[in-house]
Amino acid sequence: MSQICKRGLLISNRLAPAALRCKSTWFSEVQMGPPDAILGVTEAFKKDTNPKKINLGAGAYRDDNTQPFVLPSVREAEKRVVSRSLDKEYATIIGIPEFYNKAIELALGKGSKRLAAKHNVTAQSISGTGALRIGAAFLAKFWQGNREIYIPSPSWGNHVAIFEHAGLPVNRYRYYDKDTCALDFGGLIEDLKKIPEKSIVLLHACAHNPTGVDPTLEQWREISALVKKRNLYPFIDMAYQGFATGDIDRDAQAVRTFEADGHDFCLAQSFAKNMGLYGERAGAFTVLCSDEEEAARVMSQVKILIRGLYSNPPVHGARIAAEILNNEDLRAQWLKDVKLMADRIIDVRTKLKDNLIKLGSSQNWDHIVNQIGMFCFTGLKPEQVQKLIKDHSVYLTNDGRVSMAGVTSKNVEYLAESIHKVTK
Ligand code: LMR
Repeated sequence: MSQICKRGLLISNRLAPAALRCKSTWFSEVQMGPPDAILGVTEAFKKDTNPKKINLGAGAYRDDNTQPFVLPSVREAEKRVVSRSLDKEYATIIGIPEFYNKAIELALGKGSKRLAAKHNVTAQSISGTGALRIGAAFLAKFWQGNREIYIPSPSWGNHVAIFEHAGLPVNRYRYYDKDTCALDFGGLIEDLKKIPEKSIVLLHACAHNPTGVDPTLEQWREISALVKKRNLYPFIDMAYQGFATGDIDRDAQAVRTFEADGHDFCLAQSFAKNMGLYGERAGAFTVLCSDEEEAARVMSQVKILIRGLYSNPPVHGARIAAEILNNEDLRAQWLKDVKLMADRIIDVRTKLKDNLIKLGSSQNWDHIVNQIGMFCFTGLKPEQVQKLIKDHSVYLTNDGRVSMAGVTSKNVEYLAESIHKVTK
């Protein structure tokens, strides 16, 4: 009997005599998994009935009334798209050209020499996660160097899952200094010097998630030179173009530095944050190749991988993004919308710090304003985070990351009081 159970054969508990009853089914060996470290926070938040509750978990922009924000440029673009009564046919395997060609132009800039020379293989993807997943599948299959990817410590929680899922072992390089709440540039450089040659190195282009700490342009230049010297392969994740500084060109400086320095690289782009197209899943994946002929070969394989993963991407979000990127009036409105979001976040950073000082907190909170983008890596310890959740209904991830997008002029005082109480 026990053998039958182990083999996973279903035995109906109702019909089997008591002695034969067992719980074995096809999936009886499947263990209960933990909730997602980021998205699980929202699930817990939704169950809380405290009217003062605040969700600072997932990085999704909110307006000053903590409501989801549909960008005016997106509303108008969507209206124009819908008014054309387009059909619902499949996109091509790599999506809609009006979208993906403009997406890569946004990253590399209009003057990009590599784009002009057609060195890029660019495909629409299911947002940034999908872009990373295509890249992971491509590298897992074709990377000829050291089959390991090095990601910053810490990095976005899902990076590990994405690359391991594709069969690429994940390692870390130093990035963040807990003592200074700033970039550990010395540690980063030391580690890049030690990583085995021909390894893949993941870099966050801007608004590093979860720390909100970015290298300066000068530091990017140094990183780029070292990556080249050590023969490492960059995979750049750009999920927040425009969200860091409010300026899409400034936020692309890392990507453009790597292009100018002659690197070939992979690039993942997301339009979830900078266009607020979270649920529309608009993104792009690019491999920058050494020449047009290599690009043609790589493109053929990227198409084969995408076909096996999900056939072709959804069209609606990409049509909206394309409408914005291809029309000067909408594009100008969008740049204003991005700036508005970035500026609101910068403003509440100052408010949070000021409130903590006003309450008499003896801690140094400079990093709240020094960090950039959607997140603040507060330095709160897991037990302090748990207290914030249990005693104050302030929800954030266990690593102390606060999504600043959930902070508003209305809840910032309560938030500061709560943080002050758990850090006194
Ligand atoms: C985040 O880091 O909170 C966002 O990128 C949302 C996500 O999917 O994790």
